[in-house]
Amino acid sequence: MNTAPISRRHALGLLGAGVATVAAGAAGWVRGAGGHSGVTGAELAEPATLTSAGGLLDVRLTAAPGVRLAGRATSAWGYNGTSPGPTLHVRPGDLLRIHLVNHLPQATNLHTHGLHVSPQGAGDNPFVTVEPGGRFDYAIRIPADHPAGTFWYHPHHHGQVADQIFAGLAGALIVDGGPDLAVRADRVLLVTDTTLDAAGDVTGQAATPMGREGDLVLVNGHDRPVVTAGAGTTERWRVINGCTSRVLALRLTGHLLTQLAGDGVFLPSAVDRERIVLAPGNRADLLVRPAGPGAWPLIAEPYDRGSAMMGGMGAGGPASATAALVLATLKVGGTGPAATTALPPLPTPAVPAGAVTVRRRLTLAMGMGMGNNAMSFTIDGRTFDADRDDQTVALGSVEEWTVDNTTTMDHPFHLHAWPFQVVATSAGDAPGPVRQDVVLVPAGGWARLRIAFTDFTGRSVYHCHILDHEDRGMMGVVNVGIP
Ligand code: C2O
Ligand code: CU
Ligand code: CU
Repeated sequence: MNTAPISRRHALGLLGAGVATVAAGAAGWVRGAGGHSGVTGAELAEPATLTSAGGLLDVRLTAAPGVRLAGRATSAWGYNGTSPGPTLHVRPGDLLRIHLVNHLPQATNLHTHGLHVSPQGAGDNPFVTVEPGGRFDYAIRIPADHPAGTFWYHPHHHGQVADQIFAGLAGALIVDGGPDLAVRADRVLLVTDTTLDAAGDVTGQAATPMGREGDLVLVNGHDRPVVTAGAGTTERWRVINGCTSRVLALRLTGHLLTQLAGDGVFLPSAVDRERIVLAPGNRADLLVRPAGPGAWPLIAEPYDRGSAMMGGMGAGGPASATAALVLATLKVGGTGPAATTALPPLPTPAVPAGAVTVRRRLTLAMGMGMGNNAMSFTIDGRTFDADRDDQTVALGSVEEWTVDNTTTMDHPFHLHAWPFQVVATSAGDAPGPVRQDVVLVPAGGWARLRIAFTDFTGRSVYHCHILDHEDRGMMGVVNVGIP
């Protein structure tokens, strides 16, 4: 979300140049396969959908090993036998009941990322532990005024979050409603990464200080799928970055990306971008209007997340892939002009309003731990302690948090339950009056967030969404109470 909007007219002039640039780099597109653009991949498939009825979605999610990934049988983990798990569809005002059953060899739990819901009790409570063989019944009430949009769910058991998502545990969560966009297809593209060995076991779980990045980058669990679309049609793509550490710098060759929503919720108006950067946890809803016949790769460009090198000690250099990756290919048959249907007004949710009463500064740091060689990941000099309240907040207040990144790498900062507006950044690229829930705080920089702590009391968490960092302590507790 750090690319300046450009007008469609300006963009038309850029298109030719963009294609040429990408074509010149074609040999670097694909891992190992000699520059093949992946057009022979299978048609994009989506997980099963489970949709609420009569105000209730009541589902059982069984987390267990043994799912297909990238077209092969593996010992990777999934929900109800697939990775990603089923896509959950709810509506504002619904009750979401999830019976989480743990058939994993370790503890787990579930988090509804991005939902503005209660963090207490059987709600979106990150402190729940579901032991192997155990179960937990979540009951999450979606407020009647909750924005429609694209959210997701994933495990949040501290210490194992990166392992469990890297092993395949994630799913999309859609709040339906919102305007009719008259699209031919409304698709989820949940992007995850992992590494599989020849036997189909997930490997590569020894995290580097940068956070692990898998060798395979999958869309809905598939390797470089194809999306077939007719000329002159319009599609909505809900792209979710479910990778544990990887930043996705997305580009659709030959096209601009028309962004409708960020972190699930509608922008004040659609914005055409050449490139969209999604940190782990971020989402973007795109309107895709095929430009013409052909095979148009959706690529993730190289992205420099900085370096975990401390004073030249070599504690893990840049981990990001050096070549662009093909995530999927838009295949367009037939001819015809690109669709130009006008969009209805987009119902963008309000950003925090009212006087800021409390200002805080939070400092993200990395360093060598005391007495051993392990690197520590801290916020305000402390690692996570589930029993400690790090920030005590009065219900209903509007606060400004300046998140300072003292390290040499980027950290995506995420707060549960209460979305925020980024009002200023060290880079001067604050995005305007939009709500989001993950912001990439650049190495050596800062981001200032305005947060309205409305509607819910209780304890929840904020953390780095490089989940290896979260697991190693870069997380804190916020306790919202009645003043
Ligand atoms: Cu998607 Cu606490 O995270
Ligand atoms: Cu979250
Ligand atoms: Cu981090």
